[in-house]
Amino acid sequence: ATTLGAAAAQTGRYYGAAIAAGKLGDSTYTGIVNREFTMITAENEMKWDATEPNRGQFNYSNGDRVLNQALNNGKRVRGHALLWHQQQPGWAQGLSGSTLRSAAINHVTQVATHYKGKIYAWDVVNEAFADGSSGGRRDSNLQRTGNDWIEAAFRAARSADPNAKLCYNDYNTDGINAKSTGIYNMVRDFKSRGVPIDCVGLQSHLTNGPPGDYQANIKRFADLGVDVQITELDIAGSSQAGGYSTVTRACLAVPRCTGITVWGVRDSDSWRTGENPLLFDGSGNKKAAYNSVLDAL
Ligand code: XIL
Repeated sequence: ATTLGAAAAQTGRYYGAAIAAGKLGDSTYTGIVNREFTMITAENEMKWDATEPNRGQFNYSNGDRVLNQALNNGKRVRGHALLWHQQQPGWAQGLSGSTLRSAAINHVTQVATHYKGKIYAWDVVNEAFADGSSGGRRDSNLQRTGNDWIEAAFRAARSADPNAKLCYNDYNTDGINAKSTGIYNMVRDFKSRGVPIDCVGLQSHLTNGPPGDYQANIKRFADLGVDVQITELDIAGSSQAGGYSTVTRACLAVPRCTGITVWGVRDSDSWRTGENPLLFDGSGNKKAAYNSVLDAL
């Protein structure tokens, strides 16, 4: 195969990228996106601040641009993200308690309903666990509405779009550590109680490469009966090409690791300014890291 998407398809997987609506007029950018990737994530356009700038008033214009760019070119879409402590609209940042809870669940319902039938998988909840050794939840306005806010969000998403896979997504969860174990325990609990969850996203914002127990961590989640997806991959550092190879091989070694998404197209598109963590250089040329992924797929 000569593209990332076609190479990943040889084992039934996808290879995706996060894209920005504002860059779709750049033909170098759109050319790479259309050629290489089979799954698309909106980098910012489906987040809460973008889709519900005023309470109860929804704006899907940029989200729909990203969606249509994907669907019109035969690609699938990962929805990102229904609830998160960051990139909330100002009005939601000012709410708490049962008022915030109803606004949040309404947001899940409305956005998942708008995109019903068009989304392969939703990041229903993003980054809800704390860094460090606690293994517990991160403090946030959403968490302060009650520990059951995550399962309430997953149930609302399932009701709104029964065919979308529903994922929990987070960072610093690539290896086996207190944070990833906290999430593992939540997923195990959800599965045992019938709370709808289908997948776990490992963001994998990395330097040089993943931790040595990356594959083992992917496998332990898969063994709970959920798919695992690498959702926001980017790798800084001098061992970048090798790191990309290691990530690719780890996913391919676990049958339920269903795909990999890189968080941007060219280095100049990356949110990690100056770290050049992506597969294409600023001119759109393939980097060594690109060849390393293609060889490993
Ligand atoms: C980032 C985007 O790439 C930036 O453009 C934006 O300014 C901030 O958010 N984890 C996530 C993504 O889940 O949504 C974040 O995306 C990167 C970290």
